[in-house]
Amino acid sequence: MTTYPLPAAAAAKTAAPKFHIPYHEPFFDEREEQSVVEAVRSGYTQGGGKFTKQVEAAIRARTGAQHALVTTSGTHALELAMMVLNLGPGDEVIVPSYTFAATASCVVRQMARVVFCDVRRDNLNIDVADFARRITPKTKAVIPVHYAGIACDMDELLEVARRRGIAVVEDAAQSFDTTYRGRQLGTLGEIGCLSFHGTKNVAAGEGGAFLTNDSSLARRAEILREKGTDRAQFLRGEIDKYTWRDVGSSFIPSELVMALLSAQLSKIDQIQTRRVAIFDRYMLALAPLAKEGRIGLPHVPAGSRPNAHIFYFFAKHLADRDRYYEALRTRGIQAMLHYTPLDDSPFGAQFRAAGEAPLPAARWVTDCMLRLPLFVRMTDAQVEEVIGAVTELARP
Ligand SMILES: Cc1ncc(COP(=O)(O)O)c(C=O)c1O
Repeated sequence: MTTYPLPAAAAAKTAAPKFHIPYHEPFFDEREEQSVVEAVRSGYTQGGGKFTKQVEAAIRARTGAQHALVTTSGTHALELAMMVLNLGPGDEVIVPSYTFAATASCVVRQMARVVFCDVRRDNLNIDVADFARRITPKTKAVIPVHYAGIACDMDELLEVARRRGIAVVEDAAQSFDTTYRGRQLGTLGEIGCLSFHGTKNVAAGEGGAFLTNDSSLARRAEILREKGTDRAQFLRGEIDKYTWRDVGSSFIPSELVMALLSAQLSKIDQIQTRRVAIFDRYMLALAPLAKEGRIGLPHVPAGSRPNAHIFYFFAKHLADRDRYYEALRTRGIQAMLHYTPLDDSPFGAQFRAAGEAPLPAARWVTDCMLRLPLFVRMTDAQVEEVIGAVTELARP
C-alpha cells in the first residue's frame, strides 16, 4: 500500500523533471471548483442530469451539430461510433498510421480490420490519395484525424468517401473549435468524436462527445451509451419505465465530470483567444527559419482556422530533432515528442499487408516533429523565450 507523503527516495524517483516552461498546464480556477461542489451538494452524481444537459447544449451551440452526446472519453466516443455503424468481422476501416492508439483500437474491438494509410509530410494528417488507393469493396469507414487541431483536406476526403459509399468518422479529439470552410470539425462526416481529456484545450480530466447530424444514428447511440437501454427517453419523461433494447455499454459520464466540463465550456472564448494568439505568434516568429529552410512549419489548409491545440515544427532529420529536444529541455523548456506510427507498433504491425514496409511519411514525421509549450497562462515573455531558444538552435 502506498503511504503519503512518499519516502524521499521514492518521491525523487517519481518526480517529473523540473521545467520552468512546462509543455501544458490546465486552466482551472474557482469556477471549476464551485461547479463540482454544486454537483456534489445536489446529490445527483450519476449521468444524465442538469450538467450533462448544459454541456450537450453548449457543444451543440458551439459546433452546430444537431446531436451531441457526451461520453466518458474520446476513446469511448470512437467505440460508440464503430458500434453504431454496425462494423464487424469482414469489414475494413481505413485509419492514418500517425495517431493515438484509440483511433485504431476502436476498429479492432469490433473485430473489423484496420487498414493503415500514410499521412502528409507537411501536417501529419491523412494522405487522401493513399486513402483512396487502399479502398476495397470491404471498406466501410474511414477515420480522418485532425492532428493538432489542424483540419484534414476534408473536401477531397469527403468527395472520395461519398463517391465510394464509405462512412466518415472524424477523430476530432484534438480539434474541438477548429473551423474548416465555415464549418466546425466533427460535423462534416457522419459522426465526429471529441475528447475532453485533461490535456485538451477544454479539459475535464476524462471525457468526450459523439456528434452527428443523423437522427437515427443519434437515437441508437443514445441507447448504446446507456447499457443498451432507453433510459435517456425515460429521463426525458417520454416513457414511464426503461428497458433493454440493444447491445450497449456504459459510456455516459458522471455529473461530477460534466460539472467540471460545464465550467470549462463557459471559459471557451478566453481559452481559445489566448491559445490562438500564442499559436499565431509562434507561426509568425518562426516563419523566417522556415523560409531559410532550417525548419518546417505546419501546413494549414486554405479556409481553415486551427484551434491551437498543439504547436509543432519539423526539424530536418532525426538527429536534428533530437538536438532541439535535448537543448530545449536542458534550458528548462518542456519540448515534447508525440506518437510513433501505429503500423510499426508492436500491436499494429500485424495489420500491415504481407510484405508491406512501414509507411514512410508516418515514420518521417515521427522522427522529425517536435511540440512546443502552449497553454493559456503562458506569458508573452515565456513565448518569446521559447522562440528565442528555437531561433538560436536553428542558426547555430
Ligand atoms: C487523435 C486522438 N484520438 C483519440 C483520443 C482519445 O481520447 P481520450 O483520451 O479522451 O480517450 C485522443 C486523445 O488523447 C487523441 O488525441
